Amino acid sequence: MKGVILAGGLATRLRPLTLVTNKHLLPIYNKPMIYYAIESMVKAGIKEVLITSSPDHSGDFASLLKSGEDFGLKLFYAVQQNPKGGISDAVALAKEFVLDQKILVILGDNIFKTDLKSAVQKFEHKEKGALVYGVKMPTDSKQYGVIEMDKQGRVLSIEEKPEHPKSDIAQTGIYMYDSRVFQFIEKLKPSGRGELEVTDLNNFYLKEGTLSCELLDWWIDAGTSYDELLRANNLVADKVKKNEL
Ligand code: DAU
Repeated sequence: MKGVILAGGLATRLRPLTLVTNKHLLPIYNKPMIYYAIESMVKAGIKEVLITSSPDHSGDFASLLKSGEDFGLKLFYAVQQNPKGGISDAVALAKEFVLDQKILVILGDNIFKTDLKSAVQKFEHKEKGALVYGVKMPTDSKQYGVIEMDKQGRVLSIEEKPEHPKSDIAQTGIYMYDSRVFQFIEKLKPSGRGELEVTDLNNFYLKEGTLSCELLDWWIDAGTSYDELLRANNLVADKVKKNEL
């Protein structure tokens, strides 16, 4: 299984912090934000990871992260020509890198503690399908993708930033896909905000009945606002000092 970390986008919600740098290079306590996604890949046992970024900043990632040797994996780099093309547009860049393997995708602004190793091993043996991760967000699920599940844990629907969320489960930025993912992305159309959405991609798998969802207990999307960035810094500082991260 190969890994893909997304570090593109324009991060307009964090301006002026992101006027001359990429949000995934901003500090989260004692490390640049993207380190957390890389370390999650390492823990998951992934040996080769493609980092996708926007044209303005891709050189900065190579300067910072180099070959990946210091982390214990091999890093590769790709440039997303349209920095606001959408998550699925960025995943599509991994087609030649991945070939017929499965992939673990992590959004570069997501921080979590869960060790994905056993889930990766289980997913490797699956014939086909996709796996997404959700987390309970009782107050503000509507600023994320929202996952509706039944009592048996089956996914009923996923909607991107719905006005009236059907559940309090937010879709995180951790996804596993079989190698058909690139065929599905080719069928996607840009959404109302002009992006190839990850939620539309996940809905292909949902429709064919091969989408599963696991729940996480702790996760933070550090890139949504100044307050979430600050909250991520404080939470991570606290967890690092308690040896919990
Ligand atoms: O973090 C979880 C949420 O991420 C999910 O709940 C949503 O379903 C999903 O659409 C996404 O929503 P956001 O609005 O938070 O996406 P954002 O624009 O912040 O981008 C998420 C990550 O993907 C971020 O690390 C930047 C990267 N990205 C984004 C876009 C639009 C790219 O690399 N390229 C892109 O074109």
